[in-house]
Amino acid sequence: MSPFVFPRPTALAQAWLAALLRPGDRVIDATLGNGHDALFLAQCVGVEGKVIGFDIQVEALESSSQLLESRGIPQHCYEWHQCSHACMSEYVNQPVKAVMFNLGYLPGADHAVITEAHETLTALHAASQIVEVGGMITIVCYPGHPGGDREKSAVCEWASQQGDEWHVVHFEKHATMRPAPMLVALQRKERGR
Ligand SMILES: C[S@@+](CC[C@H](N)C(=O)[O-])C[C@H]1O[C@@H](n2cnc3c(N)ncnc32)[C@H](O)[C@@H]1O
Repeated sequence: MSPFVFPRPTALAQAWLAALLRPGDRVIDATLGNGHDALFLAQCVGVEGKVIGFDIQVEALESSSQLLESRGIPQHCYEWHQCSHACMSEYVNQPVKAVMFNLGYLPGADHAVITEAHETLTALHAASQIVEVGGMITIVCYPGHPGGDREKSAVCEWASQQGDEWHVVHFEKHATMRPAPMLVALQRKERGR
């Protein structure tokens, strides 16, 4: 049997960011969750870099800290904010190389606590103001849970309106039994490309 080669959207987001990020970069995890993406980002940017993380749930901040500590990431390499990513611009005003969004709910916690389209759009706008030229925004959407479909549509519409300054890519499996997670990624264009 042939191997199944299409990646999960979360893995694809990480693969693209791994190709982009360099030691010393500043990056944002807009939805910390259990810290898997934050750990990945911290490993990409190294001890000279910084990961700034947001989540509304204290459990997410705690499990993210535990994960990074357990992997030997020094504390000065990350800072967490227990608030909505919609408040991103209050905490970050310097350019960043990348912002990761992994929407939806915290696995293992209350599935009613989900990212909300209107806050996600506010955060995406804030992210688009601080990502440097060549930098990237990745958004994994989960249309399979209540509200997730509306959020995915809002994200796709927002991405389609970003005009000439960004390369925009969608990765989505079609004809699936249930609505499948999908990835939207934007890379800020270099001048003239
Ligand atoms: C799918 S999980 C993120 C997974 C995470 N990136 C990881 O690697 O483990 C989604 C997270 O978004 C968080 N969240 C929900 N609304 C949010 C908001 N307005 N701002 C920031 N985080 C939010 C949830 O609490 C949950 O932890």
